[in-house]
Amino acid sequence: MKVLGIETSCDECAAAVVEDGRKILSNRVATQIDWHRQYNGVVPEIASRIHTEWIRPVVREALQEAGLKKEDIDAVAVTNRPGLIGSLLVGVSFAKSFAYALGLPFVGVDHIRAHIYAAHLEREIPYPYIGLLVSGGNTILCEVRDFDDIIIRGATIDDAVGEAFDKVAKFYGFGYPGGVAVDRLAAKGDADAFVFPSPRLYKGNHPYDVSYSGLKNAVINQRRQFLRPGAADTPENIAASFQKRAVDILLKKLFRLCDDTGINRIVAGGGVAANSLLRKKVAEQKNREVIFPSLSLCGDNAAMVAGIGYHYLKRGDRDGLQLSASPRVDGFRKNYP
Ligand code: KG4
Repeated sequence: MKVLGIETSCDECAAAVVEDGRKILSNRVATQIDWHRQYNGVVPEIASRIHTEWIRPVVREALQEAGLKKEDIDAVAVTNRPGLIGSLLVGVSFAKSFAYALGLPFVGVDHIRAHIYAAHLEREIPYPYIGLLVSGGNTILCEVRDFDDIIIRGATIDDAVGEAFDKVAKFYGFGYPGGVAVDRLAAKGDADAFVFPSPRLYKGNHPYDVSYSGLKNAVINQRRQFLRPGAADTPENIAASFQKRAVDILLKKLFRLCDDTGINRIVAGGGVAANSLLRKKVAEQKNREVIFPSLSLCGDNAAMVAGIGYHYLKRGDRDGLQLSASPRVDGFRKNYP
């Protein structure tokens, strides 16, 4: 089954064709980074307007790259939640029209589940595993029992980890997108120059929850008080010390979740999964199987949407023309022991 995937949840306008949930025939991602760089962040209204202009050519390119005509497509999958509502609506409206015009089945897909699925495009991965979804909008630790059977065990109680990278980079003018800029600068810095604080969550919080707003604020507003005596207050050192703490916060909870559940396979996804320190630290775990998607499948893309969409379509799921978009993270089982 050849599925056309469409992804417009934020600032990437993406289309892909994937066969039987695994074989990527094409994967086109048109990024709007240059349009949002001057604002140091994504401007939702600009993002949705650009999607309306780009969606048709991007889908055309995806078909061309796959060597297919639109009549060769068997079904359509589209991200319809969560994300920027205006941006989502462009993809959903296009997908509906495309499917309706060609008489094809189509299905709405959850962006978070799609990110977690991304690594499955590259290799066979048995269930269960611990999913680590780290992006600009979400930070989720979950138990994944099947492509659609996901129990959220922990999440950020405030900012997403990617948001912290982006805001620190924006404040210090490190560059845009923030995560990439911090990662690059950090490679030249001393990660022990600043000793930034770790969040201490109240007893009532879920044991695998994380928090990033305290770290973000400490780095932005109070960095000097965390400088080690004798260490240099340089951009490289700020980036390296912040990144070290940001990754630490995540790994502490991730490894605790693995220990408590006895599940020692970790599958990561989302833009922050491209972070070099995170990849290195997780890979150092000798007693755990660790799977990161290739860099091209970490960020937003439509191959992951077509890939997971295939499994819904195969089991008979269909959406009707009333399918809507939603900005919210929902529909997950939350199991807080
Ligand atoms: O998954 P994604 O492309 O979009 C969302 O769905 O949010 O993730 C974007 C996020 C941004 O916050 C970006 O700064 C971050 O991923 N990011 C990184 C790296 N590359 C992208 N964060 C840390 N290190 C990186 N190398």
